Amino acid sequence: MPVDQKTGVGLLGAGVVGSQVARVILDATDGAASNLTLNGVLVRDINRSREGVPSGLLTTDPEQVLSDDRNDLIVEVMGGEEPARSYMAAAMRSGKHVVTANKEALAKHGDELVGLAADNGVTLSYEASVGGGIPVLAVIQDSLSANRIESIRAIINGTTNYILSSMDEAGSSFEDALEEAQELGFAEADPTADVDAHDAMYKLSILARLAFGASALPDTIHREGIRNIGAKDLRYAGALGYTIKLLAIARSGSDGIRCRVHPALVPNDVPMAKVNGVLNAVELNGDLLGPLWLQGRGAGAGPTASAVMGDVLRIAHGMLGNGGGGKSQTGSPSATNGPPVVGMDDLEVCYYVRLAAIDRFGVLAKIANVFGEGHISIASVLQFDADDERGLADLVIMTHPAREANMQETAARLRQLDVVASLENLIRVEDYDTV
Ligand code: HSE
Repeated sequence: MPVDQKTGVGLLGAGVVGSQVARVILDATDGAASNLTLNGVLVRDINRSREGVPSGLLTTDPEQVLSDDRNDLIVEVMGGEEPARSYMAAAMRSGKHVVTANKEALAKHGDELVGLAADNGVTLSYEASVGGGIPVLAVIQDSLSANRIESIRAIINGTTNYILSSMDEAGSSFEDALEEAQELGFAEADPTADVDAHDAMYKLSILARLAFGASALPDTIHREGIRNIGAKDLRYAGALGYTIKLLAIARSGSDGIRCRVHPALVPNDVPMAKVNGVLNAVELNGDLLGPLWLQGRGAGAGPTASAVMGDVLRIAHGMLGNGGGGKSQTGSPSATNGPPVVGMDDLEVCYYVRLAAIDRFGVLAKIANVFGEGHISIASVLQFDADDERGLADLVIMTHPAREANMQETAARLRQLDVVASLENLIRVEDYDTV
């Protein structure tokens, strides 16, 4: 491309993020973004006005953006699996570079989309799909490329982090904290993707693919959301020196890569415990570098547009022959040849077990016996709130490291025990002596 020619951009989606991206391009009077031209914006509703985006650029016809020869690059910020995946595929087949923030499409169809970029000699970049404005994918792919990544441990969902932080601070219930997050615009009207941890699972899938070359498809990732976390759990965890965070963890072991997203007890004195509100944080561990900590705003128009525009400008820079750009965020060419993704059975961690048990002599002995038969060693037992009317008390049992399969079997037996009214919660404790 001649140096004086501008890079043509087509935009798919003009929600909060898309409109922000459009404004950054349209408002640029100097600097790198002023060498971009926005040629068209695909929207669902052409009658909705978008501040700072001329209505003449809007269209409801995807072909007008995808088949526009002036577009060198397509920015996809519609979200969702389809039709976003098909549009990205069509764009790459017609020789256009693609920048996307779409974690679901990347997590589910990473192999296909990465393959299409390679086959068509174009760049596919997706920094904004994980951690909002935090440049974590570029760090893994570029800065740490000489390292073997050993582990990733992250808070990569701002909504759930906001809810858990506010439950911890205010002692509120999950339902009240969710309602507050919705009122403040931090949680969607339908919060499923966030609170049931689909969002964090997709992001971990992308991280694991890039960091380990592992085909960590969403269904290989253990996923638990935060609906079951009660105000009591945060209170009891606090009394034991912990808070509770929704962690996304991928770790390389001798048997393969294990990926899991679930609430975890985090010691109050480690940095991860202090990541509050909608912030995201990622802790990476490379064999040469050791631990690395990245923290920032993981969602919202500004941070997401920052990551999208970083990708756009890197590609535009590369197209001008300036080097350093035009490189796909592809990870290994085919993650299907990467290390295996292993299940949860052989995971060894400590557990927090909360039981509502009958408050009577001999009960503890019966419960301890079940742990013993499951080959699980108890580290401590605390009795909390008693319900005198029902004759029940809350027992919190902390274990020594135990095998996940043994713990699950023990939990099933505890649920059947006559002295246990209910197993209220089982939460893994994150070990901060290992990174
Ligand atoms: N809903 C996500 C979050 C942001 O709460 O972090 C978009 O990935």
